[in-house]
Amino acid sequence: MSTDISRYTITAALPYANGPVHIGHLAGCYLPSDIYARYLRKNEKELIFVCGTDEHGAAINMKAKSEGAQPREIVDRYHEVIRGSLEDIGISFDIFSRTSKEVHHKTAQDFFKKLYDKGSLEEKVTKQYFDEEAAQFIADRFIVGECPNCHFNEAYGDQCENCGTSLSPTDLIEPKSRLSGAAPVLKETKHWFLPLDHLSGKIKDYIQAHENWRPNVYGQCMSWLDAGDGLQARSMTRDLDWGIPVPVEGADGKVLYVWFDAPIGYISATKELKGEAWTDWWTKEDTKLVHFIGKDNIVFHCIIFPAMLMEHGGFHLADEVPANEFLNLEGRKISTSRNWAVWLHEYLEDFPDQQDVLRYVLTATAPESKDNDFTWSDFQTRNNSELVAILGNFVNRVVVLMQKYYGGALPKPNELSPADESVLAEVAEAPANIADSIEKYRFREALSRMMNIARLGNKYLADEEPWKLIKTDPQRTETVMYVAAQVCAQLAQMMEPFMPFSAAKLQASLGMNKLSWSECQNKELIGPGSQISADGHLFSKIEDAMIERQMEKLKTPSESVNYSPLKDEIQFEDFEKLDLRVGTIVKAEKVKKADKLLHLEVDLGFETRSIVSGIAAFFDTEELAGQRVSVVVNLAPRKLRGVVSQGMILMAEDSEGKLKFTAAPEDMPNGAVIR
Ligand code: MF3
Ligand code: ZN
Repeated sequence: MSTDISRYTITAALPYANGPVHIGHLAGCYLPSDIYARYLRKNEKELIFVCGTDEHGAAINMKAKSEGAQPREIVDRYHEVIRGSLEDIGISFDIFSRTSKEVHHKTAQDFFKKLYDKGSLEEKVTKQYFDEEAAQFIADRFIVGECPNCHFNEAYGDQCENCGTSLSPTDLIEPKSRLSGAAPVLKETKHWFLPLDHLSGKIKDYIQAHENWRPNVYGQCMSWLDAGDGLQARSMTRDLDWGIPVPVEGADGKVLYVWFDAPIGYISATKELKGEAWTDWWTKEDTKLVHFIGKDNIVFHCIIFPAMLMEHGGFHLADEVPANEFLNLEGRKISTSRNWAVWLHEYLEDFPDQQDVLRYVLTATAPESKDNDFTWSDFQTRNNSELVAILGNFVNRVVVLMQKYYGGALPKPNELSPADESVLAEVAEAPANIADSIEKYRFREALSRMMNIARLGNKYLADEEPWKLIKTDPQRTETVMYVAAQVCAQLAQMMEPFMPFSAAKLQASLGMNKLSWSECQNKELIGPGSQISADGHLFSKIEDAMIERQMEKLKTPSESVNYSPLKDEIQFEDFEKLDLRVGTIVKAEKVKKADKLLHLEVDLGFETRSIVSGIAAFFDTEELAGQRVSVVVNLAPRKLRGVVSQGMILMAEDSEGKLKFTAAPEDMPNGAVIR
């Protein structure tokens, strides 16, 4: 345990290349890992910071299917979007690779082959759900059905998101494939499993040697290890047409399980970066391996991946796994499918040159020990009353006064008062305090310690009042401005891991270079005679209108909708056959034994009609009376579940199947013609 550390391998979870990155991802692992990496670099440590896109697995396949695209197009597109946005927000990876690269396919296959050759894998034939329409086996996630526990209708084959129970696909009542909607059939298939029971002692020892891990991480691992029936063998292969081919005989059409190949991606990326020397970063005991992840990845990084590495042999296991909890958005869980998210690439478009504001806010509210909430109003407050009012204000006062009194040239200090001494001492101690927090992975605390330097600076200026002193005691003013400049200089350095863009600006205006962490533990960071320029504000106020726009945006569907294909052209005469009218729903009730159907009475002015509509899932019957609607009134009557339907209500439907009424103008009478 007491080995000196010679190098650091820092990883951030590989994002799936099936969509852009949002603030939850950033707060979960990219920002904390970046702060840590920047901190280590400033400490002149040897390190690599690796990441890349996770380009295999059922999630990619599903996205491709939903867009009628090839998986290859999907991963190419999102690799670029993700890479670009993470770069633009300043995540300083040494490499951002992709799991579709040759070097990774080979590394993952060799890894599998080694386990196979050693006899570590168990070959088993099991029955799995097969979609006959789509002609493929279905991943657990892509089977839906009724939860046996809470009877929620849309439970997934691996978990019910309504009650949280973890499930097997065969537990579902009336399972359906999300690929085709068809009822799946059970079919035999062969897979290779990694048995874990014989490793459970070793894994437990490994986890228990890390009691210092965050309670959420340690707790989740222990509860997994202590679960009733011991550690079950996990299948390391899948029946899928997208992924890394299983490199053994008799495995045609099978690929490596995405959670087998993805973490090996960290190793492949290291090979790409370091060549032969990659082994230093993965096998040596004097290497410190740190995985930054979100809480949904804990078991894979703390148990499954280490088990794979143990079984393979020769690897150094993770030393730290600082996993964050989840970030919610405006009180609700972030959801990609419901577009309840703040997308990083959109933020960067809407707030150009304000990368550090988001970095600051997400670090200040990071879900380090419990789920946390991001709100736009908090974002605004933190910008306006912390970044602008505390940090920006202090820095601005110093550089402006320096300009005004000395043409920007830093004066020599005269005799130091006890107050000066104590400020200089506190400022020189700041790096050690901040380092202490960072080394404990307490980034929020570290950030607030950094901000305390600015608070100290503001208090010092308020106490000393150089703007008054300059009239009575120019000598004393020189000393005060010298001290204030040191505070400013320390801020310019200590901001760096958290807010690298503003740190660089401030360093430039102070005419400073980046200093090493140890150089910062000094009472004089900037010497007399240094030329200080005042080039504009570091931060600017965010107005209400900006925040309102973001709130609006949250409520409207994104541009990234999947448009349903266009229908064949029709003639004007075809259109003219339709008789469309404005109407008002006067009564709504459920149709017995049909969860989707509502029986509506619609006032059309000239008469009231009975219409059956498949909208029960979206509206409560009570809220419908008085709803204005557009109706097709000359559709031949049909009987649905025994009720006669004499027309059809027009609805707008998005790509996720969400329904809303089409607008019917308030001031048009029932029966008015729509054409
Ligand atoms: N793509 C996974 C996710 O977003 C994370 C993979 S991390 C790795 O949840 F270790 F497997 F690479
Ligand atoms: Zn359930």
